[in-house]
Amino acid sequence: MDNLEIKPGVYWVGVIDWDIRNFHGYITQRGTTYNAYLIVDEKITLVDTVKACLFDEMMDRIKKIIDPSKIDIIVSNHVEMDHTGSIPMILEHCPNAEIITSTQGEKGLKRHFKADWNLRVVKSGESMSIGKKTLTFVHIPMVHWPDSMVTYIAEDKLLLSNDAFGQHIATPERFDDELGWDVLKEEAAKYYANIVMPYGPQAAKAIEALGGIEIDMIAPCHGIIWRSLIPNILAEYNKWVNYETEKRALIVFDTMWNSTKSMAYKLQEGLMEAGLPTTVKFLGTNHISDIVPEMMHSRLILLGSPTLNNGMLPTMGAFLTYIKGLRPKKRVGFAFGSYGWGGQAVGEINEIMEKLKWDMPEESININYIPDPEELDEVKAVGKKLGEYILAQEE
Ligand code: FEO
Repeated sequence: MDNLEIKPGVYWVGVIDWDIRNFHGYITQRGTTYNAYLIVDEKITLVDTVKACLFDEMMDRIKKIIDPSKIDIIVSNHVEMDHTGSIPMILEHCPNAEIITSTQGEKGLKRHFKADWNLRVVKSGESMSIGKKTLTFVHIPMVHWPDSMVTYIAEDKLLLSNDAFGQHIATPERFDDELGWDVLKEEAAKYYANIVMPYGPQAAKAIEALGGIEIDMIAPCHGIIWRSLIPNILAEYNKWVNYETEKRALIVFDTMWNSTKSMAYKLQEGLMEAGLPTTVKFLGTNHISDIVPEMMHSRLILLGSPTLNNGMLPTMGAFLTYIKGLRPKKRVGFAFGSYGWGGQAVGEINEIMEKLKWDMPEESININYIPDPEELDEVKAVGKKLGEYILAQEE
C-alpha cells in the first residue's frame, strides 16, 4: 500500500500491522495501524513514527515523497514506543532534525532513548509556523500517558490526535466513510474502554480544550482517519468520558462444577423477566479486553466465582485486577458464587466493588456446593429485583 495525501501536502506514511493479536494484553482481533504523517512545507515535518520493527515500511513511504535527509522537524506527540520506536533510525537520515515534544515528553524521550537529541519543548497552546502551515500543540495528559499531546494544523482544520480517537483495526481503507460506523464504533469503544477509561476526567478536559477549534478531519495514530463521522465519534466520547451507561446488565462469571454457572443464568432469567437486557460473559471463553467494552456501557455488573483455595478463581482475580485499574464509575454491583467450605470468593469480589464505590443494593448470594431448585428460584428473584432497581432509575 502506498502513502496517501490526506490534505494538501499532508501524507499518511504509517504502517498497517496485520499480524498483531495482542497489544500489551489487549486482544487485537483486527490488527492495528501505527499512523505517521508527513507534512511537506517549507520545513518538512514528520508527526509521530511507527514501531521500530516496522521502520523500513514507513521509510519506503516517506522516500516516495521526499528525501528523508530533508526532514527538519519530528513532532513526538507521545513517548510510547509504538509512536517513537523509529525516531532513532529516522535520525540517522536527518541528524539535525528538531524534535518537538511536551515537558513530560522530553523526560520520557530521555529515559527511553538515553540520547542527546535536539529536543524542543512546547507549551500547551503554543504554535509554530512551518511555512504555509501553522502547527499548534495542545497537551492532553493521560490520553494516554502524562506526555501526550495533539498537533493541530489550522489551515487544514486537521487534528493529528495521536492515541485519542484511535481504534485497533488493520484495513486497506484509510477513512471512516470507507469502512462504516458499525465496525468503527465497536473498535473505538473497545479501544477507549481498554486504554482511556481510567482517565475519563482528563479525557473530558482534553475534549473541552479541543472544543474551540474548527476540525474537519481527525487523524489518530491507530486505525482509520475521521472525516465523515466526526460528530458520531465525538458524541460517543462525550458519553464515555462522563461514564454514561445504558440500562443493561452484564454478568461475568467463572465456574468449577457449574454451580456458579447455573446461578449466572438464573440471575439472567430474573433480569430479563424484569425487562433488563442482560449479557453473560464466561471468563473461560471471553478475553478480559473483550468484556470491558460491554462493561463500559452496562449499568449493572454481576460478578460470580466459586471459592478455590480460600479465594476467588484466578480468572476472576485477573479480571478484577484489570477492572481495578480501569476504574469504571457509576455502576451498580452484585457478587455471587458457590463454595464447599471456605466461601471467601464472594467477599473478595465485594471488597473490590466497594473500593470502586459501586452501589450494591442487594445482599450477595453464596451457595454451598450445589444450588437446589428453591435456591435457584431465590437467585432468579434477586435478579428480577436488581433488574427492577435499574429500570426504576433515571436515565
Ligand atoms: Fe499508541 Fe499510548 O500508544
